[in-house]
Amino acid sequence: MDGRCVVTGAAGFIGSRLARVLLDEGWHVVGVDAFTDSYDPEEKMARAQSLRAHPRYHHVSADVAETDLDAILAGAEVVYHLAGRPGVRDSFDIPLKYHHDNVVATTRLVHAAHRAPSVRRLVYASSSSVYGDAALPFTEAGPTNPLSPYGHTKLESELICLDANGAKLETTALRYFTVYGPGQRPDMGLRRFAEAALEARDIRLFGDGTQSRDFTYVDDIVRATRLAADADVAGLAVNVGGGTRISLNEVFELLGELMGGPVSIQREPFARGDARHTGADLTRARELLGFQARVDFADGYAAEVAWLREKSHVALRSAS
Ligand SMILES: NC(=O)c1ccc[n+]([C@@H]2O[C@H](COP(=O)([O-])OP(=O)(O)OC[C@H]3O[C@@H](n4cnc5c(N)ncnc54)[C@H](O)[C@@H]3O)[C@@H](O)[C@H]2O)c1
Repeated sequence: MDGRCVVTGAAGFIGSRLARVLLDEGWHVVGVDAFTDSYDPEEKMARAQSLRAHPRYHHVSADVAETDLDAILAGAEVVYHLAGRPGVRDSFDIPLKYHHDNVVATTRLVHAAHRAPSVRRLVYASSSSVYGDAALPFTEAGPTNPLSPYGHTKLESELICLDANGAKLETTALRYFTVYGPGQRPDMGLRRFAEAALEARDIRLFGDGTQSRDFTYVDDIVRATRLAADADVAGLAVNVGGGTRISLNEVFELLGELMGGPVSIQREPFARGDARHTGADLTRARELLGFQARVDFADGYAAEVAWLREKSHVALRSAS
């Protein structure tokens, strides 16, 4: 295959997995990432370093909101737009950074993709956080009501993408539901819980643990994202979820089983901006994308915990 595509946010948790799958399929991949300070840039650089070893991967270290995008998009057929500043809590403190990395970057990229003769489709990584505390299950045609600046920037970016859909450029927005698995971002709950348990520290829990999430394994998210490049979803938002809602209390029970004993929890008040429950209506994903999640939560979380265990052993070995 001689196809070329662009992955923005290629040094990120999900973007790096997507880039790897595209390389395995035979694509030439241009990855763009600014290694922003949303979490330790070393973690991002290590992912980019591993991709750079591939002969069909080309990395551009640049800010999508500022760099010359025409050169980056030249010859590309599909643009997967995953660059962004994720995370709900920080968005209350630094909303302008969220606006820059999400709204400004998306606006520039969509314009550039529209200009680029070769680009036929843009797939945007939107979020379940556009729904807020909507009635379950969340349906794409139902109301959106973000609870945080992060959610607002994702909704605005999604609309910018979908408004640009037309004969020249087809666009689609996938609403990812809490993504987890090996490589997960360090600020995300499932990773923080497992790291605390592995280090025999208390787990900091915001709320009473009854809140629930439709967790989605990273390889399932990547498969849905690939399907969206060709499926009949132009101009649409599509939920991508794991298909089962799990409460945090259930997560702690499973984590205890994986650790061989109960985990210790320090409870704090509910955090603002967090939805109480998330659950995806997956009708569109099933009917239009042909997508169904394959990895169930117990297996997926075991894989993440195994990855964290291995990571901490490697860190200990290199420190000694
Ligand atoms: N992880 C989830 O559960 C989840 C859920 C819903 C939506 N999403 C969305 O999926 C995308 C990927 O999420 P992730 O968890 O892999 O996050 P991530 O932070 O690991 O990856 C995002 C990458 O984008 C890069 N980036 C940010 N702003 C940039 C800019 N202006 N120019 C160039 N690069 C920039 C960052 O350096 C980072 O490497 C994000 O857009 C996020 O909002 C993620």
